[in-house]
Amino acid sequence: MAIWLPDLGGRRGPKYLQIVEAMAEDIASERLAVGTQLPPHRELAYQLGISANTTSRAYAEAVKRALLRGEVGRGTFVRSPGAILQAGEQSNLRRVRTGPIDLSRNLPLPGFAEPHIRRVLGDMAGGEGLPALLDYQTDDDLVHHSEAGMNWLSGCGVEARPDQIVATMGGQHGLLCTLMALLRRGDLLLTEALTYMPVRAMAERLGLHTAAVAMDAGGVVPAAFEELCARAKPKAFYLTPTLQAPTTLTLSSARRRSIAEIAERNGVILIEDDVFGPLKADRPAPVAISAPEHTVYVTSLSKSVAPGLRVGFLHAPASLVPALRHATNLSVWMTPPMTLEVAARLILDGTAAELATRQSKAAEHRQSLARSILGHMDFTADDHGFHLWMPLSDDWRADIFRAQCARHGVLVSEGRGFAAQASDAPEAVRVCLSHEADETRLERGLQTVANVLRLAPSRSALEI
Ligand SMILES: Cc1ncc(COP(=O)(O)O)c(C=O)c1O
Repeated sequence: MAIWLPDLGGRRGPKYLQIVEAMAEDIASERLAVGTQLPPHRELAYQLGISANTTSRAYAEAVKRALLRGEVGRGTFVRSPGAILQAGEQSNLRRVRTGPIDLSRNLPLPGFAEPHIRRVLGDMAGGEGLPALLDYQTDDDLVHHSEAGMNWLSGCGVEARPDQIVATMGGQHGLLCTLMALLRRGDLLLTEALTYMPVRAMAERLGLHTAAVAMDAGGVVPAAFEELCARAKPKAFYLTPTLQAPTTLTLSSARRRSIAEIAERNGVILIEDDVFGPLKADRPAPVAISAPEHTVYVTSLSKSVAPGLRVGFLHAPASLVPALRHATNLSVWMTPPMTLEVAARLILDGTAAELATRQSKAAEHRQSLARSILGHMDFTADDHGFHLWMPLSDDWRADIFRAQCARHGVLVSEGRGFAAQASDAPEAVRVCLSHEADETRLERGLQTVANVLRLAPSRSALEI
């Protein structure tokens, strides 16, 4: 059988990290299956024409990052990504009140929208419009829904005309349609260095190249974007300027304007993901305002009203809208008129905006709870965000920290899960405050995180 050989083409940095990065990518894409035995260090070194020291270092690093496990006398094998978690400790999208306390999911608090959606569904069931909603829709049928889209976008600070709006099944669908419509196989998509990883997975499926734009304490760095424009001619740049996942940062007005200006000058499409924007009333104006002819603005009701509605809107220059609508047609034919109708009624009678405010206030309350428990520790957060970003001290490794929390019944996410390039993965964790419905469980979870942080890292590594 052919031995595994990493593809090192186009990679930079120390050779051993290039090997680890290629290995992480091959494991993520399942080209390298769990349980596969890797070639001996010397064999791989011989095949790559490098020293055995380098391959030994690569394997040691991969073991440290929980990609591989060594078995004495047998060899080195690809480990299961969940291997450190015990059975029953996996994250669960359902809001359960038993089992591990789940601080790994960035979802809105449940319950607020339910009575309003019951009311709207009752009205719809007794109204005359139902038969039309159960049929295929024409553009004329959708006028009412596009009015709702304009109203929602206006609340986000984006004034839209009907020919600039596309209804989608949420932000994720909006992002996929945008990539499908506007980029071609081989195009380069930029993302922030720490990013919402499903977008990179979509890019891979669509045959796009990706590169990462450096970030600092203020978020994505405009000069790094400019440098990549000059060097690599990207087609588009995906970014989350408000309540960035995972860093919690909100980009300043000045940086937003610089990015808009660089995109315009270089003919780059900005894909502005603002699904968290409605939670933060005092955020700067969207990037789309500064570069209206170069931005696809992505919003959804998932984080502020209810994720199960699956409703979102794209705002784009009118010239791009036919291609975007074509992508929604191709993917789902039409955004479901029933759920769009529910969303439209909630938007047009002001309920959706009220629900966004309630989510934002609930986030504020949970953030103050988190400060009261973790206040003396080092983390970044926003009063209106659902999560914290916690860089760990030099002694800690994020995989060990995560595993220690899991051993004590609390789930958090490793920084590695957000890193566009595995070799740049920060030793940090994301701690989410809104998935757990029960505040007592949240308090217990945060207390555990604080206790694990107080442990001596070397001891906790030995305990695993
Ligand atoms: C940054 C970001 N963008 C988009 C989405 C997807 O949003 P939606 O549920 O509206 O598809 C999420 C969901 O977690 C997200 O975190």
